Amino acid sequence: MTNKIYFIANWKMYGHRTSANSIKNVIRLAKSKKYKHLKLIYCPPYTLIDKFVQKTQNSNISIGAQDCSDKNGYGAFTGNVSAFQLKNIGSKYVILGHSGKRLDGDTNKKINQKIKNALNQNLKIILCIGETLKEKNKKKTIDVIKKQLKDTLIGINSIKNIIIAYEPVWSIGTGVIPENKILQKNIDLISNHLRRRFKYGKIDIIYGGSVNPNNIKDLNKINNLKGFLIGSASQNQNKFIDIVRKTIN
Ligand code: PGA
Repeated sequence: MTNKIYFIANWKMYGHRTSANSIKNVIRLAKSKKYKHLKLIYCPPYTLIDKFVQKTQNSNISIGAQDCSDKNGYGAFTGNVSAFQLKNIGSKYVILGHSGKRLDGDTNKKINQKIKNALNQNLKIILCIGETLKEKNKKKTIDVIKKQLKDTLIGINSIKNIIIAYEPVWSIGTGVIPENKILQKNIDLISNHLRRRFKYGKIDIIYGGSVNPNNIKDLNKINNLKGFLIGSASQNQNKFIDIVRKTIN
């Protein structure tokens, strides 16, 4: 049996007011015996979190956000949404450190603060790390990954509520995924690094970047992976279900 359990949908800046209706088949799947043990998580934009929470109430699908503020609670911070507010609206997870947000200016230091805020609210974190194409070509992948892990996890005592999503930036939205051999090497590196850093607790590492029904069979061959962070393919419920089925069957 596979050890893959996380299927996390990252909807980015897509979705409109009736979009929660478009995941009916996934809700049905989540309720069936065979898939009950899975962690199916939808991360729609902030505007749709409430609707997704309502829609998935009686299923084991959880809802997450795609970011949170580095500021806490309430405050005069225009355009920010705090971890406290996310928790209040029913989010259980939050994606942090996504390359999209890093491009918007998120540094490892800022991500570290966001992680602390989210953990304080008992949110579970999906922490994204990964090298850009330029860094890959300069053979800097290992250095980049290690630094991202080290700096974003400063002062964090437990890995229990953190899932690490390895997302090579050059693989996001491009249809290109790493060769299995290289991917396995990077996943093992992340796993070893975390095991040295956190002596206890389970370590959950997932992969993200152009995951789709056509390449999922290959990706499933990677050991030590607990699941996937899925962008564009997750907006189509049939593709999402196809990915789940091909992994679990
Ligand atoms: P993608 O996005 O599956 O569309 O490549 C993944 C992500 O950005 O999390």
